[in-house]
Amino acid sequence: MNIPMLDLKSQYQSIKQEIDQKILEVVASQRFILGDEVEALEREVADYSGAGFGVGVSSGSDALIISLMALGVEEGDYVVTTPFTFFATAGAVARLKAVPIFCDIEEDSFNLDPKKLAELLDIKIEKRDMSRIKAIIPIHLYGQVTDMDPIVHLAEKYRLKVIEDAAQAVGAEYPGDNGPKKACTLGDMGILSFFPSKNLGAFGDGGMVLTNDAELAAKLKLLRVHGSRNKYFYDVLGGNFRLDALQAGILRIKLKHLEGWQQQRRERAAAYHRLFQDSGLVSEGFVQVPQELYKDSEAANYHTYHQYVIRAKDRDKLQPYLKEKGIPSAIYYPLGLHQQKCFAYLGYKEGDFPVTEKATREVLALPIYPELKPEQQQFIVNGIAEFYS
Ligand SMILES: Cc1ncc(COP(=O)(O)O)c(C=O)c1O
Repeated sequence: MNIPMLDLKSQYQSIKQEIDQKILEVVASQRFILGDEVEALEREVADYSGAGFGVGVSSGSDALIISLMALGVEEGDYVVTTPFTFFATAGAVARLKAVPIFCDIEEDSFNLDPKKLAELLDIKIEKRDMSRIKAIIPIHLYGQVTDMDPIVHLAEKYRLKVIEDAAQAVGAEYPGDNGPKKACTLGDMGILSFFPSKNLGAFGDGGMVLTNDAELAAKLKLLRVHGSRNKYFYDVLGGNFRLDALQAGILRIKLKHLEGWQQQRRERAAAYHRLFQDSGLVSEGFVQVPQELYKDSEAANYHTYHQYVIRAKDRDKLQPYLKEKGIPSAIYYPLGLHQQKCFAYLGYKEGDFPVTEKATREVLALPIYPELKPEQQQFIVNGIAEFYS
């Protein structure tokens, strides 16, 4: 049975007419940089997410960099984040010569652990270093929002800014103290990635920063065009962080389908859950299925399943076994950022973040997308069951 890890060709086929027409429209306009399509997308994604403003940028990685720049993060500042994320989160901090401070994740959610964050800020950080901490970047990993209320309270207590890394969680909802809210509206800013494999994916690179703060939005727009308010006059040091009109046009079409796709992803996840329970793999302790922390809340998009990630016993033997059988899988992520060579200068060592390190040994992402068929899911779970038998 042929099972791709991701089936973007099928997705394109299902909306080909609308997309092709939009591409032709943009090509006919010969307006490729920023412009009407980008502005319309910014409005539509902001509305979808419940945010005041959207600023389209060149990628999710650049969205992180430009957000930190807008907050004035610079050399020697500290930014707290987790070591269990895609490289870009901490990479953006380091690119600005600021220092990533890692804080471990929760076992259940793989997201920043508010209790450990409190410990870090209340006890571990020397008083004299407190003023150097500028921001916290929680990552909503795999499509489920971090437990934000306690993090926002800590940020208020210590006057820190919060940038949500929602690269994997467009539209995901959090049932907080103030009722359900979508990712990117819970802190000061939130970033999205439109990398092609994301739930809302472009035909190339793209990203967005969302915020409710008009001043920050204006600053982001300035930084995105080299810091220039009037052509060839530069007020601040920015860069080229622009989103292009073709990507924006394509994303506008896809956005109309996003809610349906999110629901279909949840249905595929529910099917995996059932198959794993019925197989006995969960009760026998071979596999742990993803925890849905907000399922019984008012949050409709309680999980958007960018990835369906199980914890698997003997993961490193299971993965090649599945590959032999034609079952694709992926490991997000095989090594904590605190153990990466490029961050050796930060001075962390193995054992510093045990929950992250355990996750790097156990996680396995299985195919999940709206086009995935029941028989393919059955085949995948059967393959896993055969390995353990
Ligand atoms: C958690 C996280 N942050 C940031 C990024 C960076 O996004 P991009 O690939 O659009 O630069 C990604 C993308 O993979 C991501 O998963």
